[in-house]
Amino acid sequence: MKSYNLTLSVFPSYEEMSKRAALFVFKEFIKKEVKKFVLGLATGSTQIGFRQEFLKLLKKSSLCLKNLYLVNLDEYWPIKKGNPQSYFQEMKQNFWQPLENLKLGFNQKNAFIPNGEGKNPKICALEYEETIKKLGGIDLQMLGVGIEGHIGFNEKGSSLFSKTRLVTLSPSTIEANKRFFLGNKNLVPKKALTMGIATILKAKKILLLANGEKKQAIIKRLIKEPPNKNLPASFLKLHKMVFFFLDKDAYGEKLT
Ligand code: F6R
Repeated sequence: MKSYNLTLSVFPSYEEMSKRAALFVFKEFIKKEVKKFVLGLATGSTQIGFRQEFLKLLKKSSLCLKNLYLVNLDEYWPIKKGNPQSYFQEMKQNFWQPLENLKLGFNQKNAFIPNGEGKNPKICALEYEETIKKLGGIDLQMLGVGIEGHIGFNEKGSSLFSKTRLVTLSPSTIEANKRFFLGNKNLVPKKALTMGIATILKAKKILLLANGEKKQAIIKRLIKEPPNKNLPASFLKLHKMVFFFLDKDAYGEKLT
């Protein structure tokens, strides 16, 4: 039987998982501080703790962040950058601005996210691929996972060879994300621009976070199934340096 790469670490709580994820990213950054470090980011609830812990670590450090570049996975389409529900605003308020406020040299002009308010989604997608290429690729990509196994907004059926493109959100993603839109699923945009599976797999390292019982079923499938289109996150098993950090509720099994 073919064996795939997957390094699983299970932590007793969401807080612990978030702290360890922050430390992991911090250490990766230190290795490359003097050079350019391109960190891929995700949005969603799972990432909140990690981002807060990462900000805390940076605050305590005297690192220089002028070589830190950020690229986000996805953005709704169409959506104005000024819309409070856009991922652009979410990132600006909760990460880019706080990072700049640390006064360690980070500049928001080094933060990138797909352009959800462009005229032509195909051009916006191509431009985003170009941005990542010009940065020299992603050093470390952070990921969350949807309850049906999406990464970024690569829903079921996404090809292993997919690049940044316009996609249609699945009913389950719209349902899960309506909490950010006053609980009204009719307000959730039906489409998004997302890095593709191939774009994600080009990152040098990948760290996926998952917490809570609601992720248990998909994590079980992910551990068991070989890479396949019906479970886009399973393609991560084809990567040489992929790490899964889970809390015990997402893992489900008893820790020994
Ligand atoms: C969002 C993204 C999504 C989320 C996933 C999990 O940028 O990439 O794949 O990571 O939907 O979302 P949460 O963390 O809210 O459960």
